[in-house]
Amino acid sequence: MMDTIQVQKLVVNFKTLEEFKRFKEYGNQELSMLEDLQSNIIENDSVSPFYGVYYGNALVARMSLYQVSSRYDDYFEPPQDYLELWKLEVLPDYRNKGYGKKLVDFAKSFKLPIKTNPRINSHGFWEKMGFQKAKYDMERDLGENPLIWTPTGVTEKTPSS
Ligand SMILES: CC(C)(COP(=O)(O)OP(=O)(O)OC[C@H]1O[C@@H](n2cnc3c(N)ncnc32)[C@H](O)[C@@H]1OP(=O)(O)O)[C@@H](O)C(=O)NCCC(=O)NCCS
Repeated sequence: MMDTIQVQKLVVNFKTLEEFKRFKEYGNQELSMLEDLQSNIIENDSVSPFYGVYYGNALVARMSLYQVSSRYDDYFEPPQDYLELWKLEVLPDYRNKGYGKKLVDFAKSFKLPIKTNPRINSHGFWEKMGFQKAKYDMERDLGENPLIWTPTGVTEKTPSS
């Protein structure tokens, strides 16, 4: 049931990293966490940028969230802290049940602007979530096509031309 979907912050441990292997976007970020854990550079159950949703004991949806400092903000006016959201993914059997929306709503609940780089073919979803294409700025965006969401009162920066 939609109402029982709970978003939780994920800690880095061998169990979580094993669950991450079921996601398509498993890559460098996960491998480096695994190496750090194996070589005791980070402790078991360290904080991670990941948030997830469990169905029973199984992790079925996840995303990464990182708060970027206003010093590096090139997207919003006035420059402010914002959230970068990446690796939003719901396992195939659990799609279209509200898990993706639940995670995005959780990100929005911090009341900070959000920026993400959508995967191909996910535009329909992001549009439903109220995200819009950032005005393209070549020097900033290069090969990216960022989408942004702004809470009330925040405006997008006008790109310098
Ligand atoms: C994209 C993704 C994160 C969405 O998560 P989800 O849990 O399946 O989506 P939700 O059930 O929360 O959907 C929320 C709303 O977005 C809509 N939606 C979901 N995926 C969509 C899509 N690809 N295009 C258009 N609308 C979409 C749903 O129909 C729903 O609309 P409603 O509120 O009117 O019912 C998830 O499907 C995923 O990880 N996909 C991976 C592969 C991928 O990117 N696919 C894109 C399509 S090929």
